Amino acid sequence: MKTPEEILVEAQDLIGQVTDEASAEALRIRYLGKKGEITALMKTMGSLAPEERKAFGMQVNKAKSSIEAWLEDKTSRFAAEARSLRLRAERIDVTEPGLDIPAGAQHPITIAINEISRIFMNMGYSVVEGPEVETVFNNFDALNAAPNHPSRDMTDTFYISLDDDPKRSTLLRTQTSPVQIRTLLAQNPPVKVISPGRCFRADTPDATHSPMFHQVEGLLVDEGVTMADLKGTLDLFARRMFGSDARTKFRPHFFPFTEPSAEMDVSCFLCGGDDPTCRVCHGSGWIEILGCGMVHPNVLAIGGLDTDRYTGFAFGMGVERIAMLKYGIEDIRLFYENDMRFIGQFY
Ligand code: DAH
Repeated sequence: MKTPEEILVEAQDLIGQVTDEASAEALRIRYLGKKGEITALMKTMGSLAPEERKAFGMQVNKAKSSIEAWLEDKTSRFAAEARSLRLRAERIDVTEPGLDIPAGAQHPITIAINEISRIFMNMGYSVVEGPEVETVFNNFDALNAAPNHPSRDMTDTFYISLDDDPKRSTLLRTQTSPVQIRTLLAQNPPVKVISPGRCFRADTPDATHSPMFHQVEGLLVDEGVTMADLKGTLDLFARRMFGSDARTKFRPHFFPFTEPSAEMDVSCFLCGGDDPTCRVCHGSGWIEILGCGMVHPNVLAIGGLDTDRYTGFAFGMGVERIAMLKYGIEDIRLFYENDMRFIGQFY
């Protein structure tokens, strides 16, 4: 059997050559394990004479603790190397550009409709919808449009089916106003609704025309409604939509389904009338944004209402026009081309 000194010299040499965790563990077992060489030496102690035992024990213990210390030194060095290898492998370059995760954006028409709707909902209006394929009756006759009204012309309107009965003839609605008829037939006063949606006219596309476009219709019917209510409501709408400095102006106009009728202008939110070259108002200081008026008694009667008791106002605005003014868009066709560089810019 080797002496503790022999073991010590040999172990120092072998541990010095160890380069990995597994061989360090093998040496630990070889010297310090249950059947290890140091363990074996310890077991011989009992058979020694008492006077030899102390010196021998000290030698064995010294060998044992030295071997433990050397192995510990090796294994902690291996652990440190493994850790720094792992850190190097896991290192992230915080300057590397991130992945481009495309965020969705709302279409500017959707944004404008939502904003208009929010303003009227805050005034207590409900949002209702009507079909895009409408009866000729709801789109024209019930709205008091005379049989010779120019908008009825085949070249202006997309007819779908024709019948002698205008209630059975259909077309792509030319305006959201037929929702007025549907609402009056479905609800009892007080009626307070807006209705956004698509409209269709046989127009050739250019910078300001599109055969498909959007309107928001409004209708309020109750007892004692006057033109003052109309003006107050639309004036408040203009200030909420275009800023608290916005002023409004009502110009007499004609619509078959309102009497009196008006067009509403809003003061130019861009230049306020100060810039003769303004791209929004072209120097006039005013921009036309909607048509409106007091609901014609013929329309209320079609809705089954007592026209001595009820009055109301209505309005209709073009969403594209408002969005173009508000966002400075110069060509209506941009809304429908689905170029992400354009439609992704608005929020
Ligand atoms: N429907 C009209 C158009 O398309 C807009 C309009 C004008 C709607 C006056 C109304 C209104 O409700 O009262 O030109």
